[in-house]
Amino acid sequence: MEKRSQWGTRIGFLLAAIGSAIGLGNIWRFPATAFENGGGAFFVPYLFALLTAGIPLLIMEYTIGHKYRSSSPRGFSKISKGMEWIGWWQVLISFVISTYYPIVISWAIMYAYFSFGTKWGESATDFFVGDFLTLSEPGVFGSIVPSVLIPLLFVWAFVFFFLGRGVKKGIELANRIFIPLLFVVFLIIVIRAVTLPGAFEGLDAFFKPDWSRIADGDVWVAAYGQIFFSLSIAFAIMITYSSYLPKKSDITNNAFITGFANSSFELLAGIGVFAVLGFMAFKSNVPVNDDLVEGGVGLAFMVFPEIISQMPAASFFGFLFFASLVLAGLSSMISISETYIAALQEKFSVSRKVAVTIGGGLAFLASLLYVNQGGLFLLDTVDHFINNYGVALAGLFEVVAIAWFARHLKDLQTHADSVSDIKLGKWWRVSLSVITPIVLGYMMLENLRTELTRPYEDYPIEFLFTYGWVVAIGAMFIGALISTKKWPSKDNHS
Ligand code: ALA
Repeated sequence: MEKRSQWGTRIGFLLAAIGSAIGLGNIWRFPATAFENGGGAFFVPYLFALLTAGIPLLIMEYTIGHKYRSSSPRGFSKISKGMEWIGWWQVLISFVISTYYPIVISWAIMYAYFSFGTKWGESATDFFVGDFLTLSEPGVFGSIVPSVLIPLLFVWAFVFFFLGRGVKKGIELANRIFIPLLFVVFLIIVIRAVTLPGAFEGLDAFFKPDWSRIADGDVWVAAYGQIFFSLSIAFAIMITYSSYLPKKSDITNNAFITGFANSSFELLAGIGVFAVLGFMAFKSNVPVNDDLVEGGVGLAFMVFPEIISQMPAASFFGFLFFASLVLAGLSSMISISETYIAALQEKFSVSRKVAVTIGGGLAFLASLLYVNQGGLFLLDTVDHFINNYGVALAGLFEVVAIAWFARHLKDLQTHADSVSDIKLGKWWRVSLSVITPIVLGYMMLENLRTELTRPYEDYPIEFLFTYGWVVAIGAMFIGALISTKKWPSKDNHS
């Protein structure tokens, strides 16, 4: 019998899975995506994407992990030999994400520190791009930025420490501490946010449905993209995490809990962010509109610090906000890195310590590429391409391969039903074999059309080619290459 690590308790697994799902995507991506895509009307495609793709895929990934008790590549290879490469591709996508994800966490660590005395001063944008990142031009890397390098070393030390300790004593322990703490911290922020003057106008802008947008294909593309990133699906993560579940585990119920917990947090983040934006609009006497709302880096590190400065008890709330980004980010970072730790252990029959040293070590070295004056442009480009032509595309290949090539959905359904209270109906198979492939296929074409019409963010073409296309497509090729190596006959797990 193979000795595989296991979660200590069901709640331990759930906290880890929820900890993986709730990440930077919930706090820095969701609110702005929802706002830009029809506000209240975005909830229709969002819920549709959650119920027809997010949760069905999560159930499928949990079932694969649980049934085959393997990392993503070996799980896929057990379904069909020809599918192993999809698993490696997903592992490599996670590897790439794990090179820039800790950079954003490092910024958040510094901003938690800068919160004391609101050190970003009068103009938070100038501070972020000027004083803090000393930003250069796209494609010009310039010199090392020590204020990013130092927190990055701490982030990696943390990741190495918890991953090195294993599933129960490391990953589970970290999530048991971080996730409840994150909820408490975030709740304090949201309560404060909704009681600020102007909060109501902000929430009104967030929830007011713009129904004219519902027929817009881009809105649906955005909803699916958000669900994939946010639920950590097609990242190899959920297969890896569920492979550590004990035999008697309710798969379907766990997937619903994870999906709804993640979306509830996302909604909470949306409420918090928009209440605060309403406050800013109130202070500066302008409406809450597109000019005010920026996503991603802009929202978290430029707009927010500016608002925080105007809040009563600014240092305290600034610290809580950036601390919540750090907590959410670290728990996701652990899950992203665990994908290649598990896969390396199985493929090369090495111990966890060796896999952490090699896998984590390589990711650490690659993450240093962003620690310079041009790092922000590199991060933005890699993130854009790996999400649109990595995660979403790998998700499409995953469902098509399982539903149509291996014709394996029925088998997986039988397995999930044998251990779960909620039995899967036809909706599950139809969602995965018809709805998800159609929407993801359309999404791919739409994304490509936009990409080819205009270079992303008007960055130099060569730069986009090297760090966008080569990275995204390279992950697929290297994945295929690794899958040609045979599995060892003896397993080695700890
Ligand atoms: N699911 C993680 C996030 O939302 C990756 O950031």
